[in-house]
Amino acid sequence: MVSRRDFLSLSAATVLGGGFVLPSRMAIGDEHPKNEPLQKQLAADPQRPQYHLLPPANWMNDPNGPIFWKGQAHMFYQHNPHGAFPESMHWGHAVSSDLVHWKHLPIALAPTPGGPDKDGCWSGCAVVDGNVPTLVYTGVFPQVQCLARGDDGMMTWRKFAGNPVIAAPPQGMQTTGFRDPCVWREADEWYLAIGSGIEGEGGTVLLYRSRDLMHWDYLHLLCKGRRDELLPGKDPVSTGEMWECPDFFPMADKHALLVSTQGAVIYSLGAYANHYFRPELQGKVDLGDSYYAARSMMDEQGRRVLWGWIREGRSDAAQRAAGWAGVMSLPRVVSLAADGRLRITPAPELETLRGKHHHFAGQPARGAFSIRGDSLEIQAEFELGASGVVGLTVRSSPGGEELSSITYNRTKAQFLVEREHSSLSPDVDRGPQGGSFTLAENETLKLRIFLDASVIEIFANDRACLTSRIYPSRPDSLGIGTLAKGGGARLKALDVWEMRPISPDRLAT
Ligand code: FRU
Repeated sequence: MVSRRDFLSLSAATVLGGGFVLPSRMAIGDEHPKNEPLQKQLAADPQRPQYHLLPPANWMNDPNGPIFWKGQAHMFYQHNPHGAFPESMHWGHAVSSDLVHWKHLPIALAPTPGGPDKDGCWSGCAVVDGNVPTLVYTGVFPQVQCLARGDDGMMTWRKFAGNPVIAAPPQGMQTTGFRDPCVWREADEWYLAIGSGIEGEGGTVLLYRSRDLMHWDYLHLLCKGRRDELLPGKDPVSTGEMWECPDFFPMADKHALLVSTQGAVIYSLGAYANHYFRPELQGKVDLGDSYYAARSMMDEQGRRVLWGWIREGRSDAAQRAAGWAGVMSLPRVVSLAADGRLRITPAPELETLRGKHHHFAGQPARGAFSIRGDSLEIQAEFELGASGVVGLTVRSSPGGEELSSITYNRTKAQFLVEREHSSLSPDVDRGPQGGSFTLAENETLKLRIFLDASVIEIFANDRACLTSRIYPSRPDSLGIGTLAKGGGARLKALDVWEMRPISPDRLAT
């Protein structure tokens, strides 16, 4: 088995397969291959989401360069068009008019044999230079920064003949990596933040400046972590030795820096002055470890919309056999909360997917409901009473052989998805996912849960996100219930919407 971590340090070994006949090489502008048997398999796969963006087939990881252009949202993503495993990275491309319904577009970037990206077009960003859409991304191996210019419709991309535009990290620096550029404009200059780290010390973001996107000068470290730095509170997370996928943007009168620490996505809010960023407060973008490599964009209403890669929670063999791996998170809107922290909530556009509505009025928080499903939005509000643990069960089989629990534990101040019994399949992750979360005395627990086949995205009290993966094996694992330990918890109300799919075939074409 090749883990993602191993993959990152491998040179470009060629792995073919997946059992499907696919072109041996895909080029910029190529349509996704038509493969009817595979498309049929994917359209009928109960683990494949119905209202999340994902490639028509094969592998996806990071969102790359999400951007609004001519009234549409463009999403690029790390994509291996040759199989459901992380090799030979291309940039997949999709477009949406509402952040919710997507259309697949041809491959945006493909490795050029003999070029600086011959072994993969890794993560990066999109900007508009004058009127020219431009992608800035990492070529490997070694890690260098490259540029590609697009046409007006963002349908074809031409790589800059002078690539790489940054050929190596600053001299003398013992970096742990050098990738995933994030570019923005200040007055008439471009700035580029790049994910890196200093061996033995900790993750860093390096800052560069340019007038034309082609010639870059290294300035200094935008920000530096400490390897063993822990988040405040009871939720220790080392920020590690390498920061991937920096995303840096203004947020009210502060700036926000998101970095992916090879474990979690951490945000810092702080002051940006003289081209240095000084973090004042940190938090986790998502409490689980299924959500990674988050990137944001500004939309036309001035909202900051955030996307992330939802990785799989099953074996490499199961992923290859499925013929697809990796899902894009639902759009999340980021703002500054009254307490000065980041507030991350589902984009209101998702409400357009709501179909049939079921409402259940107040009752003790113990019991099952008549509504069943695996493509639902669930809103629940609980009064805790004297209960120590309260929450919901989802995807439960009638006899309880399979079920997943979403729980708030007051004593442990934890919010979790518990997956021990989530599937009878031997091939899936069963560990709990989640982290620190505390309700104030007398505060109700307010959950918004998006169930979509094997994906769960949860938003708790507008201040915590938790993404998880579950793979129930039984077709009747569709039940919903409430649970409470200790007395007194009450369900104030439960609202469930059956969600409409965004395509007729689970986006397999
Ligand atoms: C994050 C990441 C990036 C890299 C890309 C390769 O998941 O490791 O740092 O550019 O994936 O696919």
